[in-house]
Amino acid sequence: MNNPILLNGYTLSQKKNEDLKKILVKCPSLSLATILVGDDKASHIYVQAKIKACQNVGINPIPVFLSKDITEQELLKKIELLNNDSTVHGILVQLPLPDHLNSHKVLESINPKKDVDCFHPFNIGNLYAGVSDFAPATSVGIMMLLDSIREQWSIESKNVVIVGASNIVGKPTAMLLLQKEATITIAHKKTKNLKELCLTADLIIIAVGKVNLITKDMVRKGAVVIDVGMNRIQTEQGTKLVGDVDFENVKDQTFAITPVPKGVGPMTISALLYNLYFLYQQHYTKNNNDLR
Ligand code: GUN
Repeated sequence: MNNPILLNGYTLSQKKNEDLKKILVKCPSLSLATILVGDDKASHIYVQAKIKACQNVGINPIPVFLSKDITEQELLKKIELLNNDSTVHGILVQLPLPDHLNSHKVLESINPKKDVDCFHPFNIGNLYAGVSDFAPATSVGIMMLLDSIREQWSIESKNVVIVGASNIVGKPTAMLLLQKEATITIAHKKTKNLKELCLTADLIIIAVGKVNLITKDMVRKGAVVIDVGMNRIQTEQGTKLVGDVDFENVKDQTFAITPVPKGVGPMTISALLYNLYFLYQQHYTKNNNDLR
């Protein structure tokens, strides 16, 4: 078989960011508020990466760092202020939140017109109803990667197995692929015969957080594999980032595969910036600059 196509999200995201940067020259005051509650190390790294990406394309980041002890009422008040601030175009609350805060309630308090993550029930509802393709950033990033090989591989009529039924990745990605007329199965921790199921797939998307969950014997020849997993493992050389796929052994089996790192991760950030631009176009330019 031919060498697999390496779906390099790092290179693609750089190109996408450059394209967006050119577009954003025309809207220099676009801004994104990033709310981080507490001092979770991984969340800090993600938020810093988002802030830097904003700066690189000409979006004004508004970093909001809040104490892990903040009350729900205080957090809702902060979001309300940002909702009512017409100089703020997008708001994201980094997840997970500390246990004493109700994530659903917090996400629901964000003005849907500023909901850059597409986590608000209003935006998710439109996605699930099939009336919008505005979607969470990881799902959009995955679609961008698949779109980059559309001339060799089309989504239509493909059998897709998504492993992981989260609201952030699995479920919204299923909805976007359904809109493209693929057939979707979402597997989760109680799914029986995962191996047999994966062997029916033209496309496997895995977002679980378990090293080597997808092995060579689970992937049919010529399948496309998208690995959303991000696991830090200890090696003799220090810590290393790996996905959920046994990449070295699986890759030759595939038509195309994402590496980890430099696969889905950078695309998620790029897609977030595109989501902000989408909201701006939808709600800001058309509605007399009134985001409230
Ligand atoms: N935590 C893990 N992924 C995400 C994401 O895409 N957005 C936010 N806000 N939090 C996350």
